[in-house]
Amino acid sequence: MLDPEKFIQEAVEEIRRQVGDRTAIIALSGGVDSSVAAVLAHRALGEHLVAVFVDHGFMRKGEPEEVRRIFGEELGMNLRVVDAGERFLEALRGVTDPEEKRRIIGRVFIEVFEEVAAEVRATHLVQGTIAPDWIESGGGIKSHHNVAGLPSGMVLELVEPLRDLYKDEVRVVARALGLPESISERMPFPGPGLAVRIIGEVTPEKLEVVREANAIVEEEIRRAGLKPWQAFAVLLDTKTVGVKGDIREYGHTVAVRVVESLDAMTATAMEVPWEVLRRIAKRLTREIEGVTRVLYDITDKPPATIEFE
Ligand code: XMP
Repeated sequence: MLDPEKFIQEAVEEIRRQVGDRTAIIALSGGVDSSVAAVLAHRALGEHLVAVFVDHGFMRKGEPEEVRRIFGEELGMNLRVVDAGERFLEALRGVTDPEEKRRIIGRVFIEVFEEVAAEVRATHLVQGTIAPDWIESGGGIKSHHNVAGLPSGMVLELVEPLRDLYKDEVRVVARALGLPESISERMPFPGPGLAVRIIGEVTPEKLEVVREANAIVEEEIRRAGLKPWQAFAVLLDTKTVGVKGDIREYGHTVAVRVVESLDAMTATAMEVPWEVLRRIAKRLTREIEGVTRVLYDITDKPPATIEFE
């Protein structure tokens, strides 16, 4: 059993020892892993930790505002918010292949991040890597962004205070650090964000649909008192025929995925009560213009991955 107080004390000391009076940088997403890593590093380094929130425009509803409030205002971190939405959309124009989308997002992310790293003369890179990240990356299943050297040749020493922890242990540490529930109990969210929850090309219109859809799914799952590993909406690239009012409408298809898991290596589709699924379907089709059909994904992992792309 992990003793969170002891872990925190040792992690803070270790970060201080590793970085000394130099400057570290962290890409803070608001997810539980990077948040915990950032708070530990902030305790160790104070102003010498620069937390960079790259807003790629693919965040969930309200997420950028929340990160600014919690980490910038309440915790007083040295936080840089980079609004890079246009840059990412431009880079993704016309791209439909899932791995290509991930590669481009990873590349632009690093470019943006590197600009800040150079500006603040960072020597160390703090990452919220946890055990399953490097186990899965080692297996080569999907590209995660585990950078040590940046494309310009800038080399940053990696600081990975969470690398031996599993997700449930990170949450224990998050609670012990006094982070709000919205962070400590936050569902995992992929680095490339909503961009990999839109099948095919990413456009501002589709982003709007999937962002609203995702907020509805998360809200109804929470309201029903369910605590899955992840619950989210995906916008498929298949249009289907529907009827709204008395009018035929050729509209969007939204897939709903709710999974239970311990570490994301395997997952099972959750048996969400029928009335909850119906409520979700009703709200998605009523509240979001252009959505005419809702599907529930009943596939486990394996063979399906949790995300669709
Ligand atoms: P898959 O889809 O591979 O996802 O079954 C496993 C877990 O990882 C999350 N995920 C990511 N997390 N960067 C991340 O930080 C990524 O590129 C990424 N892709 C998937 C996914 O949400 C799930 O919890």
